[in-house]
This record gives sequence, structure tokens and C-alpha cells, in this order.
Amino acid sequence: MCGDGILMEEFITQQEITKQYDIAAALKGETAGKRACVITFGCQQNEHDSQRIAGALQLCGYELTDDSSLADMIIINTCAIREHAEVRALSEAGQFKGRKQQNRSIKIGVCGCMAQQAHRREQIYKSYPYVDFIFGTDMHHRLPEIVQTVLNSKKRVSFITDKPHNEFGVISEGMPVCRDSKYKAWVPVMYGCNNFCTYCVVPYARGHERSRNSADVLAEVKGLVEQGYKDITLLGQNVNSYNGGCDFATLLTQCASFDGEYRMRFMTSHPKDASSALIDAIAQNEKIAKHFHLPVQSGSNRILKLMNRKYTREQYLEKAFEIKQKNPDISLTTDIIIGFPTETDEDFADTMSLVKQVGFDMIYTFIYSPRVGTVAAKMEGQIPKEVSNQRFKALSDMENDLAQELNYKFIGKKMRVLSDGISKNGTYCGRCTQNKIVNFDKPIPAGEFADVLIETVGSYQLNGKII
Ligand code: SAH
Ligand code: SF4
Ligand code: F3S
Repeated sequence: MCGDGILMEEFITQQEITKQYDIAAALKGETAGKRACVITFGCQQNEHDSQRIAGALQLCGYELTDDSSLADMIIINTCAIREHAEVRALSEAGQFKGRKQQNRSIKIGVCGCMAQQAHRREQIYKSYPYVDFIFGTDMHHRLPEIVQTVLNSKKRVSFITDKPHNEFGVISEGMPVCRDSKYKAWVPVMYGCNNFCTYCVVPYARGHERSRNSADVLAEVKGLVEQGYKDITLLGQNVNSYNGGCDFATLLTQCASFDGEYRMRFMTSHPKDASSALIDAIAQNEKIAKHFHLPVQSGSNRILKLMNRKYTREQYLEKAFEIKQKNPDISLTTDIIIGFPTETDEDFADTMSLVKQVGFDMIYTFIYSPRVGTVAAKMEGQIPKEVSNQRFKALSDMENDLAQELNYKFIGKKMRVLSDGISKNGTYCGRCTQNKIVNFDKPIPAGEFADVLIETVGSYQLNGKII
């Protein structure tokens, strides 16, 4: 693929954005009547990126579709966090081989965190010849230019910045976002990560930490509230390192200060940086949702050290108890990695005991997956799959019981629920401030609030009647 050695400042200039709008306008003749489809893997950040990609494709004149079989332009936005995510994305790309053979004018692109990895690009280049273009995680604002190049090139095209971590990554404002909900929205406040947890690919795939200006974030949130959005999540890999003009607690509080009924959420806070100011802000502001996602990863100090997490079990416990003590009804959720290299039965027992001590409302449990280029992938003592699977099951079984016990306190309570309409199983459902699923008995339009009296609970849902 032809390289693209561009140099960019961290903040993309208004001039550059105007240029992209001009290119998009000029493309409309070529894209008239054509459809585009964006397929997404990975985290909320990636979902939001896909909404930006979709926004830019729409700007270029494409009609958006969820049905890739109808699309003339298909973009697969990939995730590299675990092997499973990568395998799924590659198999998705593989689906399009036949379609491309039938219709050579269809354009297929791959972007996202996998595209940012040299060894994956090599693999796509060699084994997926029908992929026409690749672009990196800091190229979204250049999509009109990418589309123009792809439509006019007979060669395969690559828009990737291969810079060192501390220089890689940009911030762009002013490109359109095509949101898939009329009442829930993601708003990134920062990009990238500087933490280099030894298992994690994100710093390599997303570049250095950089914050949007608080004025831009506030203007976006205000605009969303005015448009009727009810559930807005501020996004960042470690929101507590936000430094775009104020600290994160201040930004969150300001975002929660507009008129109207809505909820502010955030994701994710690193335990080493989660501040008392943030915990207090949640307690003091009705509009800030009572949910804290605080990934612990392991309950063993030895493993936490090997992971480069920069906190101890004791420090984590202190933070978790502060959150619960100041916000008695809060839902506390976490991420745990099972089978990190050298994890012994004792280390795992420490994780189990921490989980019991804290009482999490939900745990996202992941089996460790070695990532090329990370420190942990080179560590000795990789754990056999069967051992990890056993530990995974033991933790899930215990958590199912603990989570259900935590939910009993909601029985008989009135909960404010933001309706999601009808679920896939045909029930009426929504989310309470704790972000738990609430099932109820009468139809409430999606995006409207209602009060529900909780009658029964499961591990991960509450059930009740509309009052
Ligand atoms: N920035 C967030 C996490 C983002 S990644 C934080 O620091 O909390 C989401 C989760 O994926 C992580 O919390 C971790 O539990 C999991 N994860 C990351 N890399 C992984 C790997 N190599 N194998 C298994 N799970 C991993
Ligand atoms: Fe990955 Fe750690 Fe950064 Fe989270 S804080 S994105 S786990 S390196
Ligand atoms: Fe995956 Fe990249 Fe998100 S690796 S989890 S899509 S930041």
C-alpha cells in the first residue's frame, strides 16, 4: 500500500476541517444513490468513532445502511483488545471476498485499533487482497479525503500515522457525528492513554493522552440536552487525567448543570486517579448517574504490580469504600482479567476475596489475551486455558450470587427509569440511574422517563410496575 507520511499538530486546524467539507461537497456527484455501511467492534470509544465515520460518509453523499449486502462502501472499524475481537473482525472482512468478486466497484475499508498495528496491516495486505483501504485511529477527520482517494485510485490506499506514542494522536472538532440514538449519546472528553498497563494494546493503538477543550465538550453536551438527549456518557480511557481547561470532576459537574431531566455518565476512571472530588460530585449532583465503573483487574498485589496498575489492593479497597460510603445506592462495577501470566491459585484467591469484600454490581471478566508488542506478552508463566476457564467460572458463579444479593435492597423502591422501549425478548425495559436493566409492565416510549416500583430482582435486572 502506498504510505502517507503526513505531519500534524495535535489540534486539527479549522482550515483543514473546511478543506474536508469542500472535498465532501465535491464528492456528491460521484456518490449519489450509493450506500455505505460501517461495522463496529470494540469499546464505546470505537462506537463513537464509527458515528463520526458514518457522519463523514453521509457528508460525502452516501446514504447509510445497516445491511452490508446493500452497501457500495463498507468500513470495518476494528478492535485489538483481545484475540477474540481481532478474529471476529478478520472473519467479518473475509465475508466480503465473494461480494468483491461479484462486484469490483464495491470499496472495502478497515480502520480502528487493528489497523494501527503493523503486523495486522501486513496480514491484511497479504491475506485480504480485496480490502481496498486502511486508515488509522487519528484519521477520522480526513475521511472525505480518504474516500476521494479511494474512489479515484486503482491501487490500495493507506492512511496511517506511524509515529512514536508521545507524538501520535490528534484532536479534531467540527466534523459531523451520525448518532444512532435520539436519547443516548457518547461524548469523548479525551483520547489515547499514557498508562501502559503491561497487558494492554490501547496506548499503542490510540496514542498519547490528549484532552478536548472543556468549552467544546460543554457546548456539545449543551447542544445534546437541547436536542432532547437524556443519557450522555463522557468518554476517555482514564477520564481522571482530563486536563482540557479544568479537572474532570469540574467538567462533569458543569455538564450536569443544564436545565431539564437528563443523566450524565462517564467511562472509565483509573483507580489510581479516581479523586475524592469526583466521588463527591456524584454524591452532590442529581443529574450525575449513580454508577461508578472502577476496573480493578486483580485482587493480588503481586499481579497488580506486574500489570503496572500503580495501586495496591488496599488502595483500591479504600477508594471503593469511599465511593459506597458517600453514595449508598451507587452501583459499582469493575473489569477483571483472569489468567495474567504467573497468576497462581493464591493470586486468584485474592481476587475472589476482594470481589467478596467490595460487592460489585457487575463484573466484566476477561481471560488474559497476549497482545503483540506489550510487556506481558513476553512474560514467562503464561497460564493454561483450562486453568483460566476454571477460574473464570468460579468468579462468575460467585458474582451471580453476590450481584443478586446487592439487588434485594431495591425491592419495594420507586426507581426512575429511562425507557429503551421493547427489548429483544419482547419485554418493556429501560435503565435506572445505576445503569441496571429494569423490566416493567407497560409500554413507555423509548427515551422517556417513568417511575417503576421494583417487585422482584435478578442478578443483573430489576423487575416492577409502572406507577
Ligand atoms: N481504560 C480502561 C480499560 C480499557 S480496556 C481502564 O484502564 O480501566 C477494557 C478492559 O479490557 C480492561 O479493563 C481489561 O480488563 C480488559 N483487557 C485489556 N487488555 C486485555 C488483554 N490483553 N487481555 C484480556 N483483557 C484485557
Ligand atoms: Fe489500557 Fe491501562 Fe490505558 Fe486502560 S489505563 S487503556 S487498561 S493501558
Ligand atoms: Fe478495542 Fe481500541 Fe477500544 S483496542 S477496546 S476499540 S480502544
